Amino acid sequence: MYTKEEYVKDCQIHNGMWRVVNSDFNRLNYHLMAPTGWLNDPNGLVEKNGINHIYFQYTPFDAGWGIKSWGHYTTKDWITYKEEEPFVFADNRLDRDGAYSGSAIVKDGVIHYFYTGNVKLLDGNYDYVLNGREQNTIHLMSDDGYHFTDKALVLANSDYPDDMTTHVRDPKISKDGENYVMVLGARSVEGKGCALVYHSADLSHWHYVTRIQTSEKFGFMWECPDLFKLNNQLVLSVSPQGLEKEETRYQNVFQSGYFLVDENHGDYAVGKFEEFDYGFDFYAVQTFEDESGRRILMAWMGLPMESEYQEDPTVKYNWRHALTMPRELVFQNGAVYQRPLKEFEKLRKNEFQTQISEFKQWQTENCSFELNASFSNPTESFSLRLRDDVVLTFDGSMLSLKMGESGFGRTQRNIALDKVSQLQVFSDTTSLEIFINGGRYTMTSRVFSDSLKQTISFDTKADGRLTIYDLKKFNIE
Ligand code: FRU
Repeated sequence: MYTKEEYVKDCQIHNGMWRVVNSDFNRLNYHLMAPTGWLNDPNGLVEKNGINHIYFQYTPFDAGWGIKSWGHYTTKDWITYKEEEPFVFADNRLDRDGAYSGSAIVKDGVIHYFYTGNVKLLDGNYDYVLNGREQNTIHLMSDDGYHFTDKALVLANSDYPDDMTTHVRDPKISKDGENYVMVLGARSVEGKGCALVYHSADLSHWHYVTRIQTSEKFGFMWECPDLFKLNNQLVLSVSPQGLEKEETRYQNVFQSGYFLVDENHGDYAVGKFEEFDYGFDFYAVQTFEDESGRRILMAWMGLPMESEYQEDPTVKYNWRHALTMPRELVFQNGAVYQRPLKEFEKLRKNEFQTQISEFKQWQTENCSFELNASFSNPTESFSLRLRDDVVLTFDGSMLSLKMGESGFGRTQRNIALDKVSQLQVFSDTTSLEIFINGGRYTMTSRVFSDSLKQTISFDTKADGRLTIYDLKKFNIE
């Protein structure tokens, strides 16, 4: 258990932790980070009355994997943020080992939250896969996103199909006509990942309808499912675990991507899986529709503990991990494109423009910049240096992000591509988010250079337009 009272006590005990965390030059300028301690998945993304609520998996005073609460940031404009008190604590018999990931939906002016109460039983010899774990689907209601009513159990292990293991979690709700639809990530007894589908008319009573799965096994577990429509196309986003590495795909310990889905009277047929991102640090996507109708994605700019990289240097400063920039999703040319939110243009200052052919180099003092390149010859090779030992290269058939020591074990990631017509690179002190060909592909990674004074250079015979902006810091109140 981890209650609000313990949190308040810990705030006093660890009062100095903020000072240590904030003295770390690896702190990001325009990304939401663990205020102290550990952050993972974005949760409960929702906008109500012009306020966007961004909750996240959080262990406030431990930069490792502990009992999860929901941390909380709010923003009205995506540029100025407020760090709020944590929202949900694991303070109950139903969620005592973690208030795990979940989501939010607004109905008649009330925000409804659903999340997984993780409980590990201690009264026997359990393997915690087939037995020994409760995965309680819990429902909360809130008028304002800051205070909520009692926790109500809406689904327990006995409500999941008989062939499920005890890994069933991460409820995400959408509305389809009169029905509310919940998807839950699951692992079956035969070791096949899938998404369970439940329906409800009132958000309180749920019944099982079907499961969404591939015909051949595709990973042993699907975490964080999210079913949504993008320009009338149904999309299922999931974070599958256990995919075999292919030449350029599925390179990380776990993946995050989407299927296009055809629904026919409650039968779901999925197409081929597309990864959302080809970088090193990207997982546990969640999307939501904001009040202006945009579908916005955020992800954890990190990976679970099993990650093959070295420990990030931030852990010595008592914090670890951040969220990606919010990205608007668009469905075009049969694929989901990701675009940085327009609001981020407000962070721009000091514009620098040139022809690529005339570009020598550009110096940054703090690695916070946006670089836009549009190529007149998209098949020409190039090499774009983003840090001393980090380079993005294109050879006419492969786009590669190569990292040296500053990758802390992150080495190389590739996308098989025959054209690069456009690049938009968002660099923060210790992160890179690269949007390729209008957001058709992205590469997201953490990077920890010794110095934030870096020289950006381009080596190419290609020409085109290059624009670089310094980027300002977020305001966090
Ligand atoms: C994904 C995940 C979720 C779970 C949460 C626990 O990263 O494992 O499946 O709810 O993190 O923090």
